[in-house]
Amino acid sequence: MSNDKAPTESTSNPAAKLWGGRFSEATDAFVERFTASVNFDQRMALEDIQGSLAHAQMLSEVGVLSTDEYHRIADGLKEIAEEIQNGEFPWSVQLEDVHMNIEARLTQRIGATGKKLHTGRSRNDQVATDIRLWLRARIDRIGAELTRLQSGLVQLAEREADTIMPGFTHLQSAQPVTFGHHLLAWNAMLTRDYERLMDCRKRVNRSPLGAAALAGTSYPIDRERTAELLGFDAPTENSLDSVSDRDFAIEFCAFAALLLTHLSRASEELVLWASSQFDFIDLPDRFCTGSSIMPQKKNPDVPELVRGKTGRVNGHLIALLTLMKSQPLAYNKDNQEDKEPLFDAADTALDCLRAFADMVPALKAKKDNMLSAAAKGFSTATDLADYLVRKGIAFRDAHEIVGQSVSFAIEQDKDLSELSLEQLQQFSSEIGEDVFEVLTLEGSVAARDHIGGAAPNQVRAACIQAREQIAQRA
Ligand code: ARG
Repeated sequence: MSNDKAPTESTSNPAAKLWGGRFSEATDAFVERFTASVNFDQRMALEDIQGSLAHAQMLSEVGVLSTDEYHRIADGLKEIAEEIQNGEFPWSVQLEDVHMNIEARLTQRIGATGKKLHTGRSRNDQVATDIRLWLRARIDRIGAELTRLQSGLVQLAEREADTIMPGFTHLQSAQPVTFGHHLLAWNAMLTRDYERLMDCRKRVNRSPLGAAALAGTSYPIDRERTAELLGFDAPTENSLDSVSDRDFAIEFCAFAALLLTHLSRASEELVLWASSQFDFIDLPDRFCTGSSIMPQKKNPDVPELVRGKTGRVNGHLIALLTLMKSQPLAYNKDNQEDKEPLFDAADTALDCLRAFADMVPALKAKKDNMLSAAAKGFSTATDLADYLVRKGIAFRDAHEIVGQSVSFAIEQDKDLSELSLEQLQQFSSEIGEDVFEVLTLEGSVAARDHIGGAAPNQVRAACIQAREQIAQRA
């Protein structure tokens, strides 16, 4: 939210700031706007209140706040949470960020007791706590959406376990596979993404609360207790590191960048397959849009946009890495720049997963087109070579023989399986009538019968395993 009017005079009174005590001059109005984060960090308002409630409860348990003070603070914070949820909270840029907005409001509502909330705490450990709480909740939503996508993907793979399609290398027809097998390749990528997300969650889920500004605090705080109250696995260790560490945000963005990379690959394939040149799938109309000038067009906008959004997420990863590079310990204002990239990476990951989870179960395979495409391009040539090896010919010689057969078939404008036995025998007398079994697409696919292979029964077994693996997620 930029304001290009750029006012130059100072507008607010230093005494209005929560930190105004040592200042004799009001903040420059532009500086106020330049340094404020409230326009974006108010997204963490409820987490900020959650953190404050735990902090205040702990302070009362260790005797720093009286029970009565704690209850007044807690009631005030809960009312503020309602105000925020109802969209009635008076956010102020003069109060800089979400933390000071809420704290000032608390004092406004409950009086002087509100000023005791910040005892034994700093905005530095507070903001680190808020981001971790916010991100943890987002990770759980993203994990659930990833699981929804994978469930749909595996179901579709199971339905399409026998659907023959060309497998590609260099985007050239290479060997036949099944559509189910191809979908399980996507699923394998997403399983690694899920594992990475859960691994990242472990390092997100630690409590920096109590590290205070950088050195800890002289009050008899109980860091284990606040960690427990907030559902964190444990407190973080070193206080200097606690307020300055943003590795967890970088790790999340790395997860998101790789997830989007995978989704962009799948998107690219959907875009290709939906084209009239491939014509392998039908994308339902509700995931497509038309052209304002070409009436015949049905554009695969959703996968195109997912593909395109990979750019911004990759950018956010680089932004955070660069933000942290060379930062001296401990907290620096630079860190305020962590939020927008992190929020956008999380929003984008969630939206793209949602788009995919909705779209995948609605994909229609055009089986006949897939099959006839698989029949083109000599996709069973390797099977012919393997057949010759089984007849005792060395693989390199078999490769040569098949190469000659392919060249002959191209001249004749035929597929290998369309050549006669006599024609094939010109290249090797070892070729017999049984060769036609291996030259069919079904035979070729069924022969890849081992873990991870394209054979339909292997695809079905892999689907069962994938479903079990998904069901084990908490
Ligand atoms: N808005 C700040 C941020 O996002 C909160 C922490 C400010 N701390 C400070 N010492 N200025 O990082």
